[in-house]
Amino acid sequence: MADHQQHQQHGFFSHATLEKNIGWMIICVIIVISFAGLVQIVPLFFQHSTTQPTPGVTPYSPLQLMGRDIYIREGCVGCHSQQIRMLRAEVQRYGPYSLAGETVFDHPFQWGSKRTGPDLARVGGRYSDDWHRIHLRDPRAVVPESNMPGYPWLARTPLQPQSVVPRLNALRTLGVPYSQEEIDAAPQALEGKNEEDALVAYLQNLGVGVREASQGVQK
Ligand code: HEC
Repeated sequence: MADHQQHQQHGFFSHATLEKNIGWMIICVIIVISFAGLVQIVPLFFQHSTTQPTPGVTPYSPLQLMGRDIYIREGCVGCHSQQIRMLRAEVQRYGPYSLAGETVFDHPFQWGSKRTGPDLARVGGRYSDDWHRIHLRDPRAVVPESNMPGYPWLARTPLQPQSVVPRLNALRTLGVPYSQEEIDAAPQALEGKNEEDALVAYLQNLGVGVREASQGVQK
């Protein structure tokens, strides 16, 4: 009995207090985990490798940007990741693993976490434009066992060229270096294009800049 009382007289921060008070335990666990998390996360905001574009990565062209927004609208991220991990199997299948600096111009990024279909981070240049068009309209025309839905209406839907201006302005506000001249000229580059053109342009650019830079190709 005397022992027990002595035990209870331990300070407020003693292990005994924590173990007997679940509310206090939860609060302390949250503090410990938050601290551990911040130690990992905060330095990333200040590291060049995560805040500066990887060599070869440039802001999206107006057409690619429209394609990216269609990719977001259609929820492609629900089945496709754009994040190759540092595992041998992934690097052999998809190509060089992804770097944080590849997505500094992506707001929001499309890393994803679900892989019903393959990772798309390095898909640019893997197929012809025509392959993508046929595949997007009817995936089973080229991959019979595919369970990807078709998107046949994209080719019939013209882009709204003027709508690219607020998109570019928003990205500029977030730090993507578009000049006023580029923004002014952007709608003209979209004249006569449809949503499929834009989505294919976006897909064909995925991973290409990084690959060319690593091979020493000058743009
Ligand atoms: C329901 C899940 C699902 C959705 C949604 C989906 N896909 Fe797919 N995708 C797949 C599957 C499964 C494959 C592999 C079979 C095939 O090639 O069709 C695939 C393959 C692909 C490929 C070929 C990749 C390669 O390396 O061979 C591309 C490109 C692609 N999808 C783009 C898209 C785009 C763009 C969208 C959105 C417009 C989209 N997918 C939406 C499931 C999906």
